Amino acid sequence: MTRESWQTRIGFILAAVGSAVGLGNLWRFPWMASENGGAAFLVVYLGVVLLVGVPGLLAEFTIGRRARRNPVGALRDLSDSRFWSAFGHVFVVTAVALLSFYSVVGGWILRYFAESFTGAYFADPGAHFAAIDYGAAAVGFHLLFLAATAVIVLRGVRRGIERATKVMMPAILVLLGGLAAWGLTLDGAAAGVAFYLTPDVGYLRANFLDILPAAAGQALFTLSLGAGTMLTYASYLGEDRSLAADGAAIAVLNTLVGVLAGVVVFPILFALGAGAGPAGPGALFVSLAGAFAALPYGQVVGAAFFGVVALAALSSSISMLEIPVAFLVDEYGVSRRRAVAGLAGLFAVTGSVVALDPDLFGFVAGPLVDLLLTGGLVGFMLFAGWVLGVDAVAELRAGAGALARSLATPWLYAVGVALPAFLMFTLVSALAAAAGVPVGPLSVFGLELDRTRVLLVVTALVAVASFLGLRRPQSVL
Ligand code: PHE
Repeated sequence: MTRESWQTRIGFILAAVGSAVGLGNLWRFPWMASENGGAAFLVVYLGVVLLVGVPGLLAEFTIGRRARRNPVGALRDLSDSRFWSAFGHVFVVTAVALLSFYSVVGGWILRYFAESFTGAYFADPGAHFAAIDYGAAAVGFHLLFLAATAVIVLRGVRRGIERATKVMMPAILVLLGGLAAWGLTLDGAAAGVAFYLTPDVGYLRANFLDILPAAAGQALFTLSLGAGTMLTYASYLGEDRSLAADGAAIAVLNTLVGVLAGVVVFPILFALGAGAGPAGPGALFVSLAGAFAALPYGQVVGAAFFGVVALAALSSSISMLEIPVAFLVDEYGVSRRRAVAGLAGLFAVTGSVVALDPDLFGFVAGPLVDLLLTGGLVGFMLFAGWVLGVDAVAELRAGAGALARSLATPWLYAVGVALPAFLMFTLVSALAAAAGVPVGPLSVFGLELDRTRVLLVVTALVAVASFLGLRRPQSVL
């Protein structure tokens, strides 16, 4: 059987943007921004998207298009090494972790979409969310969301994923734009916009090293990086497309939706006097739902909002399911129909377990996913930099314009050394913070060190190492 491919260039871009735009933009982003200083967070996040996210995206793209395979097969075929083919299996685990919690949140969204029409959550949003968040009610809606995901993936790359996202993405942009315009007309909206768009430089300087890991984690999550999704999507691509141009378009569109989501959420919250609102997974469902209840035309606005979120979540969950489906189809010759049915059965169980246990949910949705995505992306970057080496440069250049061609070699240095080191740094400092290691000055042999200085020294060393270590890019780890 021949392998499927995208029908059109725009079809691929919209599918990849559909994967990127999701709960990460509409649910996780406003929550992270409100916990980390609003505009200060936005600034750092934008920097990480540009300097780490886009090169990382291109690492996944080059591997995927070169191999024309799922992550496991790609790493094995291109390296001929047992280590890398074993590493590839991590992505199957990542897909399980992602979809298990994502589908639970997707279920909450579907429920809130339906309940916006009846106004069921209007009277007491806090109590309502607490009543439905985990347990049997959550399981039912999780299964519904999973079923919708499976139906689209079942229909294949062109007829399912490409066709669905082609309709969903424009709908999301139009609805979100309309909501933003409406939100901005509310009394008090200006305070929300100010919180969101005027960075507090003092706050930024004082908290930079706490904002950085949060912003990095968010940047990976929102661009669907480190899971093998973008690799898998690029494996359905021909050689005549510019990976760099498509990658840039995807990053720009995704960022636009993230920023627009903030313009919708913060003015509505501030108009209600709720401020940045309570943090945590319930923020959207409690403060924002409360705002819909209190504002004019709340039912319509609520339905429009949760409708957008549901579409966005679905266009991401299909990309999560596609990873293990591609794995089974490529590696074991299983039919798509059987692969989807079997995996949907598995996710029905794992998602239900997560839906029953709030602590497990918190662990999977937070630290576990951060760890898997960061580790996964570091792996892809090192693979592109050290195993593919000059072949990665050639792959990036295929079909690309002059600018991308000239940036291909510097890009290889970045993904070979500098960016993995940066990601490891954020991972270690997040772990250190979680373990309670102090940020303050540290004296080593009479030398005063603080975390900022350490960061600068690490970066300088890495820059030197990248030039020495990668002089022969084809060299293998
Ligand atoms: N990018 C998606 C979102 O923002 C989440 C995602 C992560 C999807 C990893 C696929 C892989 O919701």
